[in-house]
Amino acid sequence: MVHPTNPLAKGSAPNAIFDLMKKPCVVVTGGAGYIGSHTVVELSLAGFHPVILDNFSNSNRSALDGIERIIGSRPESMQVDCRSHQELSAAFDSIAEQHTISGVIHFAAFKAVGESTKLPLKYYDNNVGSTSTLLQTMAEFDVENLVFSSSCTVYGQPEVIPVDEGAPILEAESPYGYTKQACERIIRDVHASDQPLNAALLRYFNPIGAHPSSHIGELPLGHPNNLIPFLTQATAGLRDPLTVFGDDYPTDDGTCVRDYIHVVDLAKAHVAALQWLDARSLACESFNLGTGHGNSVLEVIHSFQRVNGVDVPHVMGPRREGDITAIYADPAKARSAFGWSCEHSLDDALRDAWNWQLALGT
Ligand code: NAD
Ligand code: UD1
Repeated sequence: MVHPTNPLAKGSAPNAIFDLMKKPCVVVTGGAGYIGSHTVVELSLAGFHPVILDNFSNSNRSALDGIERIIGSRPESMQVDCRSHQELSAAFDSIAEQHTISGVIHFAAFKAVGESTKLPLKYYDNNVGSTSTLLQTMAEFDVENLVFSSSCTVYGQPEVIPVDEGAPILEAESPYGYTKQACERIIRDVHASDQPLNAALLRYFNPIGAHPSSHIGELPLGHPNNLIPFLTQATAGLRDPLTVFGDDYPTDDGTCVRDYIHVVDLAKAHVAALQWLDARSLACESFNLGTGHGNSVLEVIHSFQRVNGVDVPHVMGPRREGDITAIYADPAKARSAFGWSCEHSLDDALRDAWNWQLALGT
């Protein structure tokens, strides 16, 4: 069901309505989630009018409050399940009454790797189903520009690092990883068909941190599987000590290496990707979004302790099944195409992650 919260319906002054209608309107599926909420902020600051479509299956409306506190106005949002063609086209219809939809950013998906191995159909249904339904709806409303949330998981264990976009796509390690490969393929197939489609496939490395205001961040729903949410909760005393998954890898200190990118830098890359699409017609390209630097788990823990002046309780443990030894991005393609690069350091991200944890309280 569609539940619009439309600022245009609140008796705004005519000039405000005119200004809003002049802004390029971007549909943001999953815009109440972790990366989506930060992207909605950056879109708004860059002069876009984002409209969030989210079913709140892994988020809640407090993210809308947080966005409002940062940008000074309530973001337009509708409760929509992107798997439902009926709901999605009703939402597009209602948006199109007031705006020309210039593009879509598609975040809506489930993302828990472990859960996907236990409930693969839940992941195929949601991640692949919503992408297919969205593409169909975009065709019906003549919307061509699409930014898609992919993942470096498509590379598996790369033979060469830093990894660039030409690296082979290896067999997916999990159903979640396969949904990202499958969605990329679906988008490429549609691009090669008669449907006009202009797409940027963004392969995120490891997004971390929170907005520096601490008004939005990653919501801790259930037991965190990712490093930073577990680390902050363990440090806050809400969890057992962090287990470092393996210290016998062939890396400098024996722990795995990843490319941790501040979520605000990642969000800004989406704005740049939309601008890149706007200057093109019928492109379909993939881009790595990372810093270009790798950090080990122990380096992250030590940096977190130094930056925040706290102890991170941690113990060494066995390797986690399916973990990759080391991966970090070659972000040169995004840098030259988008004119984008990361502005925040690992220290910034770890400080913002801790401030977000403190803002959440216990
Ligand atoms: P998130 O769970 O915080 O956000 C996803 C949002 O999508 C949530 O608000 C959820 O309620 C919504 N949603 C899910 N299914 C939906 C549906 N059928 N209809 C409408 N809304 C739906 O996740 P995130 O970390 O912000 O990730 C966003 C995207 O980026 C996902 O596609 C994810 O796979 C991808 N990604 C994330 C990471 C990461 O580390 N966070 C890494 C690589 C790729
Ligand atoms: C994982 C997924 C990836 C997905 C990403 C975002 C796997 C194999 N990969 O990436 O597909 O896109 O999450 O959801 O699951 N670590 C610990 N202790 C912990 C948690 C993590 O030592 O409690 C280590 C891990 O071994 C890894 C690093 O921290 O070396 C980062 O882990 P994590 O945050 O889970 O991300 P990835 O495994 O890189």
